[in-house]
Amino acid sequence: MSSSHAHSHGHKDAAHHGIPVITIDGPTASGKGTVAARVAQRLGFHYLDSGVLYRLVAMKLVQEGEDGANEDAAVRAAQTLEPEFLPDGRIMLSGEDVSAAIRADGIGLQASRLAVHPAVREALNVLQHRARKAPGLVADGRDMASVVFPQARLKIFLTAAAEVRACRRAKQLGLPCEGLEYQRIVADIQARDLADSRRTSAPLRQEPDAKLLDTSDLSIDETVKKVLDWYRES
Ligand code: C5P
Repeated sequence: MSSSHAHSHGHKDAAHHGIPVITIDGPTASGKGTVAARVAQRLGFHYLDSGVLYRLVAMKLVQEGEDGANEDAAVRAAQTLEPEFLPDGRIMLSGEDVSAAIRADGIGLQASRLAVHPAVREALNVLQHRARKAPGLVADGRDMASVVFPQARLKIFLTAAAEVRACRRAKQLGLPCEGLEYQRIVADIQARDLADSRRTSAPLRQEPDAKLLDTSDLSIDETVKKVLDWYRES
């Protein structure tokens, strides 16, 4: 069935697997992880945090003592990535619990560097497609709507002003939303936004059929409610 035909029915993915997908894309520290996990929980859907896969490739390079800038090593690490997601939420890599280590800012930066390679992305896309399981999936990342699940039933582009995102990150670290440390976080966030939106392979951008949700003035609960309302209307 052609996508234009499927589109005319509104439920685009019904023509494909029949398993609904909600994509939530957006910049770093936009809150998409928290929102996506809660929406998934409310609907009883599976949840895919695609950024974790890019972070795991970075982690694997660290474990193997490889240079993160080495494209061949990054591609090989992505193609042979075998993470274990334990039911208790822990993430294991080569028998090591890396759940906390992959959250480090340095690993995030490294992840965004190796995410520019198309062969890395292709290898990880295979793993991401496997996450589409009944009764449904909520997937968060940068290219969930544009590349990985273009037939998703609902596409959200979640964002917030860089200063607001930096303030949320600062609070997580127990820092005030002013001063030098805070300014450094703002600069880091702006640098990662730029890197993610300027790369040629699957850049971060709002798809024409994605709904824009700016959370600068919204609480997490209000954001989750908005997504659930849109899903019911979809
Ligand atoms: O979302 P998170 O900060 O965990 O992602 C880490 C990095 O991985 C991002 O900065 C981005 O460069 C990359 N990424 C990506 N595509 C995705 C998810 C993450 O390129 N779908």
